[in-house]
Amino acid sequence: MRLDGARTTLLLAMRSDGLPEIVHWGACLPPGIETAPLRDRARARNLPDDDTAEASLFPTIGTGLFRTPALAAHHAVQDWSAAFTDVAVEPGDGTLRITAHDPVARLRLVLDLALPPEGDVMTLRATLTNEGEALTLDHLAAGAVRAPPGATSLRTYGGHWGHEFTEIESTLPDGSLVLENRRGRASHDRFPLLVATSPGAGEETGTAWGVHLGWSGNHRITADRLADGSLLVLAGELLMPGEVTLAPGESLSTPSLYAAWSDAGLAGLSRAFHAYARRHLLTLPGAVRPVTLNTWEGTYFDHDQARLMAQATAAAAIGIERFVLDDGWMPGRIGPRAGLGDWTPDPAKYPDGLGPLARHVTGLGMQFGLWVEPEMANPDSAALRDHPEAALAVAGRPQRLSRHQLVLDLAQPAVWARVHAALDTLLRELPIAYLKWDMNRDLITAGAPDGRPAYHAQVVATYALMDRLRSDYPDVEIESCASGGGRADWGVLARTQRVWTSDCTDALERLRIQRGASRVLPPEIMGAHISASPNHQTGRRHTLAFRAAVALFGHLGVELDPLALAAEEHAELAGWIALHKRLRPLLHAGRHVAADTLDGRALSGVVAADSARAAYLVAQQAAPMRAYPAPLLLPGLDAAAQYRITVPAPQQPVAELSATHRTLFADGLVLPGGILGQAGFSPPPLWPETATVLELVRES
Ligand code: DGJ
Repeated sequence: MRLDGARTTLLLAMRSDGLPEIVHWGACLPPGIETAPLRDRARARNLPDDDTAEASLFPTIGTGLFRTPALAAHHAVQDWSAAFTDVAVEPGDGTLRITAHDPVARLRLVLDLALPPEGDVMTLRATLTNEGEALTLDHLAAGAVRAPPGATSLRTYGGHWGHEFTEIESTLPDGSLVLENRRGRASHDRFPLLVATSPGAGEETGTAWGVHLGWSGNHRITADRLADGSLLVLAGELLMPGEVTLAPGESLSTPSLYAAWSDAGLAGLSRAFHAYARRHLLTLPGAVRPVTLNTWEGTYFDHDQARLMAQATAAAAIGIERFVLDDGWMPGRIGPRAGLGDWTPDPAKYPDGLGPLARHVTGLGMQFGLWVEPEMANPDSAALRDHPEAALAVAGRPQRLSRHQLVLDLAQPAVWARVHAALDTLLRELPIAYLKWDMNRDLITAGAPDGRPAYHAQVVATYALMDRLRSDYPDVEIESCASGGGRADWGVLARTQRVWTSDCTDALERLRIQRGASRVLPPEIMGAHISASPNHQTGRRHTLAFRAAVALFGHLGVELDPLALAAEEHAELAGWIALHKRLRPLLHAGRHVAADTLDGRALSGVVAADSARAAYLVAQQAAPMRAYPAPLLLPGLDAAAQYRITVPAPQQPVAELSATHRTLFADGLVLPGGILGQAGFSPPPLWPETATVLELVRES
C-alpha cells in the first residue's frame, strides 16, 4: 500500500497482527515495491515471538506495544486492551480508508489517511465506534506516523504571551517527548506542532518531518523512540478524566493530524504546509488581504467617536483598506473589568450606536471590522448578572477569574443561542466585513452543568458558532486572536481567514515569532502590524523602516494612532503601505524561503511560483561579530536567470554607502540567480535592529 505526493512517498506494510504501519515516509520511491521484506524484522532475543506492533498507524495496548498507545478506553474496567483485526483497506484518489474491528473489546475503527498527489502533507484521523456497553474514553489519538532513525533533532514551538512560536530545539536519543496542553485553547506555550529533523538541518538543508494537530483545545503530542531507533509521533486531543463516554453505538472522530515531509530543511517544510493550507484549508484563498488599521494600541479602551472618525480619515489617507474597532466599545468597558459579554455599543461613547462610525469608515472606501470576544463575559456584565449559570464552573469550587473574566459554557444551547443572536444582530445591522474574534483567557475550572469536564464540548460549540456565522455571512472574514497567537492551529484556521500572530509587535521579537509561526501559517494570514516606538510590549525604540520592513512580509496592518504621526512619518508609512500593496501578489502567493541566521543576520523571503520575482527581508538582529558582512546568499532563485536587485522606496540610502550599494537604491544590480544562490553578493552593512527589503525581478 502506498500514497504518492509531489516529492513524498508514504509506504505502508500490512502487519500480520492487524493494522498497517509506515515503513517509509520520505522521498519518492519507484513504483512496484514489495513491502513484505521491509517489515520483516530480525528476531532479537527476549522479545515477543511474533511481530510486535509498536509502529502501526494506530498502536494499541496489548499488541506488543511498549510505547504510547493511540487509545486508552475501557468498558467498566474491562476491555482496556485492543487489537484490531478484520482490516479492510479502501483506496481512493490519494486516500486510504482503513476499517478494522476488535470483536473482543467490541470496538470499530476507521482511519482516514490521505496524501493529495500535488503536495507533501498527509492527513490522518481516527473514528472510533463503541459496540459494547458504555465506553469510558480516556484518550483517542488521530493516529501515529513514523519517521526514520535519522530524525534525531526535535523542535517545539512555545514561549508565553507575547513570546509565542519560539522554536526550541532538543534531541531525543531515547525515551519519549510529551507535548501536553491543558489550557483549553491551542495555547501560547505549547503550540500543537512537533518538527523532527536530521542532525544539523537548517532552513534549506537537511530532512524535516512535521506533525501538527488541527485542534483549538487541549492536546497531547508524543514522540517515542522505538526499538529500531525510528521515531513514532502520535497526536490527539487530550481528554480530561471522564470527559468522553461513548454510549452503545456512539462514535467519536478525532481532529486531523497533518504531517509534512521535506528534504529542503525547515523552510521546505513550511512550503509544504503553506501549499496544503492554500489549496485545502483556507477559505477565501487568493482574495486580496486588505491593509488594516487596528485601534487597540493607539486607543485602548479610551474610545472617543470623533477622534476615531478622525483616525479613520487619516488612515484612509495613508492607504489603509480596513479599519478595525478593537475592545472598548461595549457598555461600561472603560477597562478590562466590566462590559465583556454585552454586545451592544456603550451609549456614553456611542450615543447613536456604532452605525455613524461604521458608515464613516465605509464612506472612506475602507472595510469596517469589529472586535468581539464571544466566549467570555465579565461578572460585571448584564450577560452574567442575568445568567450566572452561563459560566463554566465546577460546583463547590471558586470560579477562577483571569483578566477579570469567566468563560461562557457555549455547549449550553441557551448560552450559544444568546451569543449567536447578539453577533447576528451586529452583523445584520452594521456594515461589518470582519470580526476580530478574541479569546483572552485559558479554561481553568471548565465544568458543565452535569459536572463533567467541558473542554471538548467548548471547542465543538465554538467551531459551530463560527461555522454558523460564516455560513450566514460568507463575506464576513474572521480573525482568530487569543491574546495574540493563543489559537492559531489549523482547526480554527479552517473557519477563519487571519491569525493575530502575537500581541508583541516589537520588530526584533517579531522576526523570531514570525519565523516560528511560518512553519505552518502562510504569510497572507499572519497578522503583522507596524506599531509605535517605543514599543508598548518591550519599550524598545526602532526606526519606522525596521518596523515596517518586518511587518511587510505578513498580512500588513498598522497598530497606532495615525493622528499622532509626524508629517514625515505619515509620508514614510504611506510609502511602506504602497510598497506592500505593490508586492502583495508576490508576498501572499509565493514560496517561502529562508536562510540560517549568520552573524546576527536573519534572511527570509518569498519567491514567485515561476521564479520571475522575489522579495527578501535582510534583518540585522544583534551587532555582527565580523568586520564585513558575509556574502548574502539568496535562496530559491532560478540559477539560469538574470535578476535585477533593487532596494525599493521608501527605503533611503544612508550617506556612507559605497557606489555599488547606492546603485541598489537607483537602477539596481543585475546578477545571475546561480551566483546569488551559491556565491552571493556583498549586502549593504546594517546597524543592529535595522533591515533591508530587497526586490528582485527576472531580466532574462
Ligand atoms: C488581546 C488582543 O490580542 C489584543 O490585540 C486586543 O484585542 C486586546 N485583547 C483587547 O482586549
